Amino acid sequence: MHRRTFLAGLAGLAVAEPAAAKMKHDMSGMSGHGNTIPLAGTNPVLLEGKPLTALPRLANQSAVPSLFKAELAAEPGFMRFAEGFDTPVLLYNGTNPVIEAREGDKVEISFKNGIPGEPTTIHWHGMPVPADQDGNPGDPVAPGGERIYAFDLPESSAASYWFHPHPHGLTAEQVYRGLAGVFIVKPKDDPIPPEYGDTILMLTDLRIAADGTMPESTMADLMNGRIGDHVLVNGQKNPAMAAALGEKRRFRLYNATNARFLRLRFENVSMTVIGTDGGLIEAPVAVDELLLTPAERVELIVSFDKPGAAKLTTLDYERGWMGPGKPDEAGMVLLTANVSEEAAAAMPPLPAKLRAIEPLGSPVVTRRFVLTESMSGDNDGTSMQGMDHSGMNMPSGSMGMKFLINGASFEMNRIDEVSKAGQVELWEIVNDADMDHPFHVHGTQFQIVEHEKDGKVTAPSYRAWKDTVNVVGGETVRILLRQDLPGPRMYHCHILEHEQLGMMGIVDVKA
Ligand code: C2O
Ligand code: CU
Ligand code: CU
Repeated sequence: MHRRTFLAGLAGLAVAEPAAAKMKHDMSGMSGHGNTIPLAGTNPVLLEGKPLTALPRLANQSAVPSLFKAELAAEPGFMRFAEGFDTPVLLYNGTNPVIEAREGDKVEISFKNGIPGEPTTIHWHGMPVPADQDGNPGDPVAPGGERIYAFDLPESSAASYWFHPHPHGLTAEQVYRGLAGVFIVKPKDDPIPPEYGDTILMLTDLRIAADGTMPESTMADLMNGRIGDHVLVNGQKNPAMAAALGEKRRFRLYNATNARFLRLRFENVSMTVIGTDGGLIEAPVAVDELLLTPAERVELIVSFDKPGAAKLTTLDYERGWMGPGKPDEAGMVLLTANVSEEAAAAMPPLPAKLRAIEPLGSPVVTRRFVLTESMSGDNDGTSMQGMDHSGMNMPSGSMGMKFLINGASFEMNRIDEVSKAGQVELWEIVNDADMDHPFHVHGTQFQIVEHEKDGKVTAPSYRAWKDTVNVVGGETVRILLRQDLPGPRMYHCHILEHEQLGMMGIVDVKA
């Protein structure tokens, strides 16, 4: 396999080394992420400070109004992250284009799996699409195979969604190798002034070896989720953008990393949250910083109120790192805006009211999901559950690591919960483990009721539609949700390595 042939890390050791040795040497390079290079000449230096490029758009091939029709192919390709290195990656249509459609549209995507030797799917993360169109692990597209994904975008579904592969046992790897795209559903009437623009910032994580390839995942990656050496914005390291003094811009931030917790600050600007995973909130909320955990999105209005450099940076966050090698998360510069001295033309104000979000109402069913980790040393073979189709992609023997929901590891042919379409439910997600786990449910958007930790209950300060919520170690999060479409839906930790190691279940929604 090509993945077995690269030279990794500092010393150029062949990768067939045992997992433990590999982990050690990968971690020795970990402390040097960000702008510093561990040893001169060993890791490629990433191109930095280039103008921020907009992601390309997927062209609509349909002449029929209200129909978005296009083709997508998942294929091997190359990205130039560093001068002189073409990094082998996987991409949709060679560029991971943005899909932009409108509420009320029909969507028809002809998909081709061009990944040699691997099944894949396209999962429409956060979108209200029918279960059999949602790229479940149970609906793989074989290598070389094709299928059509078709669905309607209902009224009031405008939001910042995304799409990524979801094949059984291969999701984590196909995502870190590059497959992920933005799907924006625009509203019929947008309350945000068009003068603010609409800028996508898609945050991904890259680990790049001395030869420019992406190293395989290590034991530490499986445990904590894979953290790269660089956080990229639209595929670029610390890109630059120009802004005029006083200018307001609309940003959509995506955490499309496998496992990185992004606690973000935007220096020298004022930052206002206007939307979450499932679209606009009711009224703007000013913030100083925000935590964007894997798979979460946020919509912001950024007001460039001071001249000079305005940097989007990371702060430290304690997410319950397991074992040695915790990367230093703070102080990475993700984006630099250069704000002019002279003032921008006056911009229309941000409306005080954005839209109404009706409360979901009283639940008729309560379900409880207890998240646990088990790190038992006994490796009796059962520890590879959920990875059986892809053991070759992971270091062999994961030291009995299991990530469980209600004591069970994911099984493709087991229904864990049976639910009913249209019924409001209270889900209680109990994190009985040390690490944070961002919990995600397919097929719908939910409302967070409260967080409870150490007996202290806190309700969110504003109502919002979410499809992913971080559940801190030792915390319980209660959410209200309603599935409107029938069929099997996945729920899982969106640290993709945890999903792969079992922290996923299926709720079968009956009509
Ligand atoms: Cu982002 Cu199961 O999905
Ligand atoms: Cu999803
Ligand atoms: Cu997790």
